[in-house]
Amino acid sequence: MQPYRIAVMASGSGSNFQAIVDQVQKGKLDVSIELLVCDRPNAFVVERAREAKVPVFVFNPKEYESREAYETLVLKELQDRQIDLVVMAGYMRIITNVLVEPFFGRMINIHPSLLPSFPGVRAVEQAVDYGVKQTGVTVHFVDGGLDSGPIIAQRAVEIHEHETADSLTERIHAAEHVLLPQVVRWLREGRVSIDGRRVSVRL
Ligand code: GRF
Repeated sequence: MQPYRIAVMASGSGSNFQAIVDQVQKGKLDVSIELLVCDRPNAFVVERAREAKVPVFVFNPKEYESREAYETLVLKELQDRQIDLVVMAGYMRIITNVLVEPFFGRMINIHPSLLPSFPGVRAVEQAVDYGVKQTGVTVHFVDGGLDSGPIIAQRAVEIHEHETADSLTERIHAAEHVLLPQVVRWLREGRVSIDGRRVSVRL
């Protein structure tokens, strides 16, 4: 099989980035992680990338006059490296058409709820506060909206009595670390097709 070149975009701790790295290092995921894109120079995910010898493109959004300005640079980095798939894993910024259009169908995001419930920030807290009994994890293609693109896969996570956002976050993360590498594998193996909002996976 041809090499399959992925980039990860992240802003924080990067445990999902690490989950992909771990699967690749164990020989269970046949992709090449070509780049980490990060908008926070001090984020822990940058250290993880250095440790894993993944090249990093880090930028400070405040130094640019618009989203489009820094996204144009990100786009160039992705295109120069001939990236097949962009994985947004805790990238905490809205993205514009500069990135969405060239990568539609080749850019995915992981979100810590069962979309369309609880889009946006603090999704775990939103679910606890609302009192739902189940929440979960969604991996979806990125479109122009907020966590609104076609859904590829979801996993449910129970919310227990007296649950706190912290305890729930731990179980959500555990589910994410399984689901995200799985979806990357499906895409790599060409099992995923999109028809409007509906996504099929050939298992
Ligand atoms: C994850 O919960 C992901 O669903 C959300 O941001 C969080 C990132 O966590 N989009 P980490 O940086 O991968 O640990």
